[in-house]
Amino acid sequence: MEPCIGERWVSVQQIRDTQWFFSVDPSFVFNAESLDLFLCGPQETSEIVSDGSGLTDILTELDRGVSEPAAQCRKQGLTRLVLMISETCNLRCSYCYADHGTYGGPEVLLKPSHAAQLYVDVHEHHRVVRNIQFFGGEPTLNTDAIRAVCRVAQDLAHDSEPPNFGVVTNGYRLSSDFYNLVEEYKIRVTVSIDGPERIHNLIRKTAGGANTHRETVKALKRLQAILGEANVGVECTLTKKHFEHNLTVRDIVEYFHQLGVPNPHVVPVSIDDNSPLSLKCIEDQTLKSYVEAAHWCFSKTLDGTPRFFTFLSGILTQLSENRPSKAICPAGVSTLCLGNGGMVYPCFMFYNDAEFCMGPIASVETTKQLGTFIDPVLKDSREECRQCWARGLCTSCIGAFHYASGSLWGTDDLYCHLNLELGKAALGLIAEVYASEKKWQRFVDALSSPAVVNFSDVV
Ligand SMILES: C[S@@+](CC[C@H](N)C(=O)[O-])C[C@H]1O[C@@H](n2cnc3c(N)ncnc32)[C@H](O)[C@@H]1O
Ligand code: SF4
Ligand code: SF4
Repeated sequence: MEPCIGERWVSVQQIRDTQWFFSVDPSFVFNAESLDLFLCGPQETSEIVSDGSGLTDILTELDRGVSEPAAQCRKQGLTRLVLMISETCNLRCSYCYADHGTYGGPEVLLKPSHAAQLYVDVHEHHRVVRNIQFFGGEPTLNTDAIRAVCRVAQDLAHDSEPPNFGVVTNGYRLSSDFYNLVEEYKIRVTVSIDGPERIHNLIRKTAGGANTHRETVKALKRLQAILGEANVGVECTLTKKHFEHNLTVRDIVEYFHQLGVPNPHVVPVSIDDNSPLSLKCIEDQTLKSYVEAAHWCFSKTLDGTPRFFTFLSGILTQLSENRPSKAICPAGVSTLCLGNGGMVYPCFMFYNDAEFCMGPIASVETTKQLGTFIDPVLKDSREECRQCWARGLCTSCIGAFHYASGSLWGTDDLYCHLNLELGKAALGLIAEVYASEKKWQRFVDALSSPAVVNFSDVV
């Protein structure tokens, strides 16, 4: 198998059942299993690629070991607790998988005392909660519940570090109470903006049909002024309408860069194939657009004006830290979601779905049980992932897989192709700078900046 990346060819050598090695150019070898990167002479590379001879010796000898700075910037073993703070919303976005916040249930706000108790229960069973994400519906409609959780989480932390707090919001008409709250508890904010006014206003309207772009950007600016740019991110839901309005992924990344957001989360919409928003019929164009954006981001980064988007920074970070990922995404493995009913779900994408309810927190006793709850999330248990060269570096979304295929064991081709294409692009790009200590350092420094690191784990 010889996948082509840009102008160069990548040779692939499969050793045993599970070890894939890539040679990118004659001087660079990538172990797809461990995500180790190696520099080799042309002779050694050709031996490795032709028959794998002397592989262990050569690679051990030439292993360069990289990117401690990036690794130090991250905490290991992220655990994320998602709290459904509000099961209602003031907007009516056309693609909303959450049924405008209700997830198919009644409209309800989580009571502050109940929210605090949920955290106490989770804390009792899982001592380390590294991140709490306030979610919905629109969580900013219920600042009292957010405050109650922040308070109790800080109290329970005693002398140790409290969890990081984060909130995902539509940014529409945020209250002064909310601004005070994020400042007081240093809550990182992700604002959902779909790009420039002409596209955002088409899709993200209020319940009464009003436009929201101006208010949302105003909120972004105010949040940046309060929290600093590194603590405010953006989620943009990519649809066919973006392309119809002549917006590429690169345009979108640049638009957010100009707004002071260097690592936006640009996510393909999960929606019925027949929807006019669906990317299904323009999958090739979508993939090309992401890959073109990746090349452009990389050259800007090496020019000293870094640009990223989360899919790219995620893959680059995994490569540079040698951090192969075992799971398709953190759902049910290191992410849990709870809300008004007190039941545990593996992630917000499965919230209120009886099929995926894990029961009350008290019955979900050990981390081990959580880790094995969703077998299909773990790549080792999936045949197509075991056979896939990108399995060490891909991150996808089991919710999107389930949405697209109707099964936890299915996939969403767009996500897989995106990982394969961005993976190849990232390897080719890394090969270009890997031989130069100076360029490599510039790249690692950009990737390690707080503004990029803080929002690399959004799913
Ligand atoms: C469900 S909303 C909840 C938080 C808040 N109401 C907001 O809009 O930011 C969280 C994110 O999911 C995104 N989203 C909603 N429906 C989606 C879909 N069908 N496919 C992909 N993302 C979607 C939204 O655009 C938003 O960025
Ligand atoms: S603001 Fe968020 S929850 Fe509300 S309709 Fe839009 S995507 Fe759905
Ligand atoms: S890209 Fe798709 S098939 Fe490959 S490892 Fe990731 S989820 Fe599995």
